[in-house]
Amino acid sequence: MAHHQFEPDIYLEFVRSHVAHYDELEDTVAGVTEALAATRILDLGAGTGETARRVLEKHPGARVLLVDASAEMLEAARLTLPEDRIEQIVVQQLEDPLPEGPFDLVVSALAIHHLESADKQLLFHRIAAALAPGGSFILADVVVLDDPGQAVLSFGSPYDRPDRLDYQLGWMEEAGLKPSVVWSSGDLAVVKADRPIE
Ligand SMILES: C[S@@+](CC[C@H](N)C(=O)[O-])C[C@H]1O[C@@H](n2cnc3c(N)ncnc32)[C@H](O)[C@@H]1O
Repeated sequence: MAHHQFEPDIYLEFVRSHVAHYDELEDTVAGVTEALAATRILDLGAGTGETARRVLEKHPGARVLLVDASAEMLEAARLTLPEDRIEQIVVQQLEDPLPEGPFDLVVSALAIHHLESADKQLLFHRIAAALAPGGSFILADVVVLDDPGQAVLSFGSPYDRPDRLDYQLGWMEEAGLKPSVVWSSGDLAVVKADRPIE
């Protein structure tokens, strides 16, 4: 996914043409959250709201905060999602401090791979701190594989900075989360990382 500036009008067509399992990935994120109780949800790199829309369908009593660097993508999300299901729309970089928690759920699809490794690590610490005890972080993203022959996404853009899945699982553990891989396909993975109740 070599584009840094995503265009909301063509985003779905673009992402589906680059990520063959895009809809399965998004549906998996929503499905993983189904068994979890959530009233306050944070979506990081929310884009046009495809992840939030699916997750909100599983949680009729929940509202979402959408964070993204692109005001244009978030405007498309605002027009797509029911007004009363959006708590806040926040235009900011994922490298910056997060909106104030606690959140029952933090979700992020195909966005955190845009961050440098050190910024991913810092973000995982911030996510752990923003989660309510017993809350969960669901990461759906592209990862670097041992065998590049298994890769289905093409890289080469300076804006795509995927890391190995095992590194990211380690960084989540360092942040105090308990991660488990719940789905993978080629170089895509979905991880559920729980904040212990303490
Ligand atoms: C491939 S889209 C994914 C959108 C949505 N999560 C989905 O699954 O359809 C990546 C999104 O991440 C945002 N993004 C990329 N780098 C970012 C950064 N450093 N901080 C905040 N948002 C960023 C882009 O603006 C874009 O909306």
